[in-house]
Amino acid sequence: MIEIAFNIATIRKDFPILNRKVNGHPLIYLDNAATSQTPQQVIDVIVAYYQNYNANIHRGVHALSQEATDAYEAARVKIQEHFNIAKPHEVIFTSGTTHGINLVANGFTSLLRPGDEVLVSAMEHHSNIVPWQMLCERTGAVLRVIPMNEEGELVMEQFHNMLSNTVKLVFCNHVSNALGTVNPIKEIIDASHSAGASVLVDGAQAAPHIKADLQSLDVDFYTVSAHKICGPTGIGMLYGKEEWLKKLPPYQGGGEMIAEVTFEKTTYADLPHKFEAGTPNVCGGIAFGAALDYMNGIGFDQIVAYENELLEYATSELLKIEGLKIYGTAREKTAVISFNIKGIHPYDIGTILDKLGIAVRTGHHCAQPIMDFYQIPGTVRASFSFYNTREEVDKLVAAVRKAKDMLL
Ligand code: ALA
Repeated sequence: MIEIAFNIATIRKDFPILNRKVNGHPLIYLDNAATSQTPQQVIDVIVAYYQNYNANIHRGVHALSQEATDAYEAARVKIQEHFNIAKPHEVIFTSGTTHGINLVANGFTSLLRPGDEVLVSAMEHHSNIVPWQMLCERTGAVLRVIPMNEEGELVMEQFHNMLSNTVKLVFCNHVSNALGTVNPIKEIIDASHSAGASVLVDGAQAAPHIKADLQSLDVDFYTVSAHKICGPTGIGMLYGKEEWLKKLPPYQGGGEMIAEVTFEKTTYADLPHKFEAGTPNVCGGIAFGAALDYMNGIGFDQIVAYENELLEYATSELLKIEGLKIYGTAREKTAVISFNIKGIHPYDIGTILDKLGIAVRTGHHCAQPIMDFYQIPGTVRASFSFYNTREEVDKLVAAVRKAKDMLL
């Protein structure tokens, strides 16, 4: 067992929600891949914003507006530094990963031609499939799928064979939300670039576990949602290389994204504002920065080591249950376990776990093609965070056994 350099009891005190009961039982929150919980330190930043300096930004000369603008732009710099991004204006605030992907997909409408190919991995969330299908419908480009194997790993040999000079874009998640697989994105990015294709990586599920260095990855676009990483919902970031962000047209028109407006012609603001039409989620952006401060205060090395230990323990304990099958057994995984018990619908297990105070996600996890691959309707998904404990794993395993006894 690794030596845990952080004190789990102290960390849990940061999360007030972990004290509540659900259906008369202490909450055991294992739906972290859907959304993470929010520490008091981030809640305090949100409250302080509304109590002290709530204002619209980039617009007012008054003190509140200046304070809010400074805090918002300081958060952008925190995001830049966290992901090792070269320039702050390469960080575009979005409402979340889905928004970021749609922004890029929309921008490529005039850049693709009929017959161009775009590659998407077989293990994507719907939000990294549907916008590209819509793009293909608009442009006549062709969507092709990088296959995966039974373990839930991409078949890299086939990926390399699929690359050609007609492939213009490649989309892949850094970590699969349904399986936990960590994909070899550096290999994907380098090979795609050699073939002349650009790459968008959906980093939504990686962000809580992996501190991605975007300059060293040399990725073209990377998207993140703050609510997976101890921040609030409704805020995220799109990273785009400056050259791409200059080339792509604005996604939405409105205030803030303009340089000059007349009825004859409008010119657009410089980056990042060109992509930030309308009043943004000011408080959310500031809280996103606070969430990164919180996570970095604990340290990603510590977080990952601890979560990996939980993953290993939970995997071995769950596999002791006869008839239980885990989907996604990749060599590189984050702390996500998708499973079923033979003869039982995942929804029924999830419902019994909820009665026992245990929150998991059941269903297709917005990744229906993965479920089709395994020919299952869905899975039960337990996803762990650094504030979960071995005792909670034990309770999960006992509750799954109980559900099995009740349902079979
Ligand atoms: N994408 C989120 C999940 O995997 C909602 O649950």
